[in-house]
Amino acid sequence: MTEYTRKQQLLHADNVCLSYGHKPVLHNINFSIRNIVRPGVQQGQVVSLLGRSGIGKTQLFRLLAGLQQPTSGSITINGNKQVQAGDMGVVFQHYYLFEWKTIQQSLYMAAHQNPAIKGNEKAAVEKWAADFDITEALPCYPHQLSGGQRQRASIIQQLLKGSSFLLFDEPFSGLDVCVLDKVVNMLLQVSVSDELKTLIIVSHDIETSVAISDTVFILGKEPGEPGATIKKEIDLIERDLAWQKDIRRQKAFIDTLEEIKATL
Ligand SMILES: Nc1ncnc2c1ncn2[C@@H]1O[C@H](COP(=O)(O)OP(=O)(O)OP(=O)(O)O)[C@@H](O)[C@H]1O
Ligand SMILES: [Mg+2]
Repeated sequence: MTEYTRKQQLLHADNVCLSYGHKPVLHNINFSIRNIVRPGVQQGQVVSLLGRSGIGKTQLFRLLAGLQQPTSGSITINGNKQVQAGDMGVVFQHYYLFEWKTIQQSLYMAAHQNPAIKGNEKAAVEKWAADFDITEALPCYPHQLSGGQRQRASIIQQLLKGSSFLLFDEPFSGLDVCVLDKVVNMLLQVSVSDELKTLIIVSHDIETSVAISDTVFILGKEPGEPGATIKKEIDLIERDLAWQKDIRRQKAFIDTLEEIKATL
């Protein structure tokens, strides 16, 4: 089995509840994301939050992004810092881009927010655009791009800002097989770009999420319970299902998908 250790806590959700009036949506959400350390490999974290449609994934995404406060409980990052809007790179389901700016202008603006690439903004934008195959789209406005190009531009925009945490809402939905592969590879590439880089993927695409992640949390709700909660945590490294190519045909992978479906 691959050697690894889960070290310091990078993010912690502590008894997070969310209600709208008398309607509970999330109830006592508790989970932690720890820094995964592998000898000789710079390895970030890829975590998936899976659940049925309408269960509360996007609501939890908004809380994790600091865009909304929980009704009770707390979400902290890097020790004890309460998460706030702007702490995380956030890629929304509909790939928000500034419609009145060209992709290049939007990406430069993001790059200027990152002190680590000060003076090298142009090179950074060009590198990511080339890696993700949108160089040709740089002079265009968002409405001139395809859905897949918008998505990649939106991901690069968040990457350039340099936050350790990157949060994605349904990054695999509506993509054809070729683009899906491209996005998966792109996310994996990002996840090893820094030891502390942490990708949190909120999705109902179980197969793709499990194939790319090291840890899976399942959000679910039993009848009569006051909102959705974390039903199960699956350590994919322990099962030897993380960081491997061509994992999808392995029996342990297929069994894990079945186990998740049964929990949803
Ligand atoms: N402003 C609001 N007021 C009341 N209820 C809300 C509000 N926003 C969301 N909800 C409820 O929260 C629940 C969870 O919604 P959410 O969008 O998080 O689901 P989801 O798991 O992301 O679904 P999908 O997979 O379809 O995107 C839904 O029942 C929804 O009606
Ligand atoms: Mg959603």
